[in-house]
Amino acid sequence: MGTIDVDQAFIQEPEHRPSLSTIEGQGIPVINLSPVTSNNPSLSSIDALVKEIGSACKEWGFFQVTNHGVPLSLRRNLLEASKSFFAQSLQDKKKVSRDETSASGYYDTEHTKNVRDWKEVFDFLAKEPTLFPLTSDEHDDRILHWTNKNPQYPPHFRDILKEYIKEMEKLSYKLLELIALSLGLESKRFEEFFGDQTSFVRLNYYPPCPYSHLALGVGPHKDSGALTILAQDDVGGLQVKRKTHDQEWINVEPILHAYIINLADIIQVWSNGAYESVEHRVIVNSEKERFSIPYFLFPAHDTEVKPLKELIHEHNPPKYRPYKSGKFLLKRFEGNFQKQREENLQIHHFNIA
Ligand code: OGA
Ligand code: NI
Repeated sequence: MGTIDVDQAFIQEPEHRPSLSTIEGQGIPVINLSPVTSNNPSLSSIDALVKEIGSACKEWGFFQVTNHGVPLSLRRNLLEASKSFFAQSLQDKKKVSRDETSASGYYDTEHTKNVRDWKEVFDFLAKEPTLFPLTSDEHDDRILHWTNKNPQYPPHFRDILKEYIKEMEKLSYKLLELIALSLGLESKRFEEFFGDQTSFVRLNYYPPCPYSHLALGVGPHKDSGALTILAQDDVGGLQVKRKTHDQEWINVEPILHAYIINLADIIQVWSNGAYESVEHRVIVNSEKERFSIPYFLFPAHDTEVKPLKELIHEHNPPKYRPYKSGKFLLKRFEGNFQKQREENLQIHHFNIA
């Protein structure tokens, strides 16, 4: 009988270990975006879409979109490139390791809430350079210009990533408009925050895990940007914590060619809590490897994140203290690479009691 060497760094506390039974039932909403991606949309179909987006945001904070306008061939090419990249030797992957000079690059040491994730990652910035604070100290104004790590293999990796980012940008602006309208705001209300955006695309590789009942691909967390657009392959493993009273973990079933949208912390603050950022996690598989590609939409680093004034009134006072987007993200990065004694920085630390 073989025994498995268990690396304690990956082991979740018993309450976070994945349960072996899965919840059947209603999944997250699936929304057809054709009213904003086809040529001659009717006003009434856009209205209906805005309502649908509004209830998905309120009730779930997670939904899938179809007819999103992102070319399939591009998504397929990026997935293939990602597979080729991660299939290389560790030594080759480490040629483009992430380091202090930029958030771009390869690494396999991320911790979510102080437990190591069972995954490998390659991050690529949407803008080059991306302006970012040097330190998370609020009084330090020094800025860095981050650039991308550029793998030599597979060929055309960089071109495919750049092309993909353009498409993600288009889709993210459409989603932001729909979300703004659903909150009763002007459709372009969010645009001003994204000029010097700090968005990035992440290639996730989850290898098969011999102790999949003890570890997680990504531990329970909320994304810290504005929103996330995720492509997953057909293996499955992403789970969302249902917002209703039972707080059960629900599988996000792979739907061929669809994108998964999840609201993140900044939309929660902008909407003054009307739309919440929802907790999710990734289960690993003992036999199959899995690939996913999130695009994390973040505003410019110097954006002061706070509830929008149009949504604030006497009966709805601000629920969050303002914070700088870049400083928050940097603090989060610092907490993501090692076990720390304190809890990582979380959005609830900005709650106004
Ligand atoms: C993440 C994440 C989900 C997935 O990277 O933040 O939640 O399915 N990923 O890979
Ligand atoms: Ni996430």
